[in-house]
Amino acid sequence: MLHDLNMFKPHQAMIELTRKCNLRCVYCAVSQHNWKHEDLDTSKIDINLLAKQLKRLGISKILLHGHGETTIVDGWEDYANELIDLGFRLTICTNMAKNFTDKEIDTLSKFSSITVSIDTLDKKLFNILRKGGDINKIMSNIDKVRSKNNKIIWVWSTVVVKETISGLRDLIREGLLQDVRIFSLCNFTRLNGVNLTHLSDLSPEEAYEALLEIEKLQIFVKSCGKILDPKAGLLETLREKCQKLTYHQQQKDIVQNSETARLNYV
Ligand SMILES: C[S@@+](CC[C@H](N)C(=O)[O-])C[C@H]1O[C@@H](n2cnc3c(N)ncnc32)[C@H](O)[C@@H]1O
Ligand code: SF4
Repeated sequence: MLHDLNMFKPHQAMIELTRKCNLRCVYCAVSQHNWKHEDLDTSKIDINLLAKQLKRLGISKILLHGHGETTIVDGWEDYANELIDLGFRLTICTNMAKNFTDKEIDTLSKFSSITVSIDTLDKKLFNILRKGGDINKIMSNIDKVRSKNNKIIWVWSTVVVKETISGLRDLIREGLLQDVRIFSLCNFTRLNGVNLTHLSDLSPEEAYEALLEIEKLQIFVKSCGKILDPKAGLLETLREKCQKLTYHQQQKDIVQNSETARLNYV
């Protein structure tokens, strides 16, 4: 019985220092007019007491992000350093878009894993999707952190919509060169007024092509010892759309797919 209860024990906690952000990504709730841009009042939290309580629950890993950008909070690096000194492993999901100080780079280099949100390497599309961000700055920040610690687990997180599918191959190729361990592919959660093409709005042919591309990339990434992780709902959405294609068309493409998977990516 106790063994069963262990399944429900929390292993990680999330601390959202802010709901504010330096970017205005078109698909994000933070960019919507009714979003409440707030900071957490850390002066009201006794960090030593919090640490004690988390440890009592068996929590050793803290996700230092929420809906917002942690790294724009004044003193976020001191807060992170305190948690590290208290013995927690830290992870973060970040846009890596600002000019970091040496101290901030140093702090990030002590994280056990860092998820960077990158949807495309195409500068023009990047500017449209992640308003205020500059892909070159992000890559340079990643370089700076990597040069301080090559043991960090890097994850690249991509919102997959029709507009980003054609660039996935280049993005993943670059990520592999940068030793990214996990490529996380997220289905777009629809938001009012966002003019992006959700995967469920693809034609059956487009959905089938997208599915084949992702499956090919999955084979290739696996052959490099890394992980391509389509998040819940993504492949299902594409498969559902493909059902309208004929059996003959699907079989033809599956054969082509397996024959060209390796050739296309080396
Ligand atoms: C809300 S952000 C917060 C952390 C940080 N600001 C960042 O962008 O990495 C967390 C993740 O949610 C993703 N995201 C935001 N809006 C989304 C949406 N409508 N559908 C799917 N993913 C979304 C972002 O791309 C990002 O990877
Ligand atoms: S950087 Fe993150 S929190 Fe900010 S708008 Fe983009 S997805 Fe949302």
